Amino acid sequence: MADVKDYAVEEFSQHDRTLMQRPYDFYDKVRAGGCPVARSEQLGGFWYTTNYAATRRVYDDFRTFSSADGTALPKQPLALYPIDLDPPQQTRMRKLLNPIFLPDAIQKYRPRFEAIITELLDAIVPAGEAELQEQLVRPTLATVIMPFLGVPRADWEILSHKIDFLTRMRVEDPETCGQYGLELSQYLYEFAARRRQSPPEDDLMQTLIDAEIGGEKLTDDEIVGIATLVLFGGLDTTSAVAGMSLWYLIEHPEERAKLLSGEIDFPTALQEFVRYASPIQGLRRTVTRDTELEGCPLKAGDYIMAMNGAANHDPGHFADPNEVRFDRAVRSEHDHLGFGGGAHICIGQHFAKALLEMMIRSIFERLPDLKIRSDFQPDFAVGESRVLKTLPVTFRAS
Ligand code: HEM
Repeated sequence: MADVKDYAVEEFSQHDRTLMQRPYDFYDKVRAGGCPVARSEQLGGFWYTTNYAATRRVYDDFRTFSSADGTALPKQPLALYPIDLDPPQQTRMRKLLNPIFLPDAIQKYRPRFEAIITELLDAIVPAGEAELQEQLVRPTLATVIMPFLGVPRADWEILSHKIDFLTRMRVEDPETCGQYGLELSQYLYEFAARRRQSPPEDDLMQTLIDAEIGGEKLTDDEIVGIATLVLFGGLDTTSAVAGMSLWYLIEHPEERAKLLSGEIDFPTALQEFVRYASPIQGLRRTVTRDTELEGCPLKAGDYIMAMNGAANHDPGHFADPNEVRFDRAVRSEHDHLGFGGGAHICIGQHFAKALLEMMIRSIFERLPDLKIRSDFQPDFAVGESRVLKTLPVTFRAS
């Protein structure tokens, strides 16, 4: 273990339900103590970044900060590709996947998306009140992401329970997580095997079955690893940003009007919401050689969490970081680290932004007088992602 004498040892884990309700207060406290990198002895011991510069350095140097041993802490009982690979293996897989995630690729799902959101809105408008996260956000996203992958929509309920458990309960109940991990993999292996025998379809699973890298077909492990990551990586994160965006826009009608009229650029606003929400608060890397990060000596084999949440709310990099500010001087589109950075920067980001824009526009078009219910108390589900659990609203019934 690296020498920790000169560095803060501040107990921390992103699975800590209390601390992660208000993580920015915690990062501020550690950062204010002068620690760009601090140590926690929880979960077997790891380092974590508390400012923008240290987090960016971890993402930009995959040779020193490797993803090959996984990016979660505690470890996921599942292989996830390409996130668990370093370049050049990751680059080869990424080249194969890139065209599938281009902004235009999402357009063919637009009619299905619009149909389902209309159906869900039809169901809630007579009530005059609704819970947006459960009744609109998650079901609409699942309805696009499941067919995008090729998995039957009807299986979503079974899969989503396991995914949610694996995302949130790995500290409290590793045994059940191990079991769910096996069941989830088995489901996807069987699904891939069935699809190999079926007539071709137009979805990601088909692309993976047909794909070749350097003249070689993908193995079943690779196919299942990619499919698992899309299920894990796409839905919760996008739901988190949707929840925070809707909450903010309901409470700021003037900015909402500017956004919907085009006075504020939608993609820029979404980048700001991703920064603000930072649904993936942190990701693990494994140190490959003795090194130093912002003055902190790290040893080969140490774990370091690159804390996107701390970087995105670092006042040394973003003025008034805990406020949504569409006018903030975003130095480049990827300046924030909500989608990560470096080789693994989120491949699904165009997909996520297209979904979010469609969803936000549809909801406000139909329910322009949304109000947050007066007894609303924000509560975040935590673990591998940080997501607003509920968003109760009222509106004029029609
Ligand atoms: C607002 C929503 C989203 C956020 C905040 C988000 C966040 C992230 C982050 C932080 C990473 C970097 C991982 C790392 O460095 O180890 C990542 C990678 C990834 N994301 Fe997303 N994501 C979102 C939406 C999506 C969607 C909708 C999909 C798929 C449909 C997706 C699929 C992926 C995949 C496959 C990777 C791995 C890329 C690689 O390893 O090269 N994400 N995402």
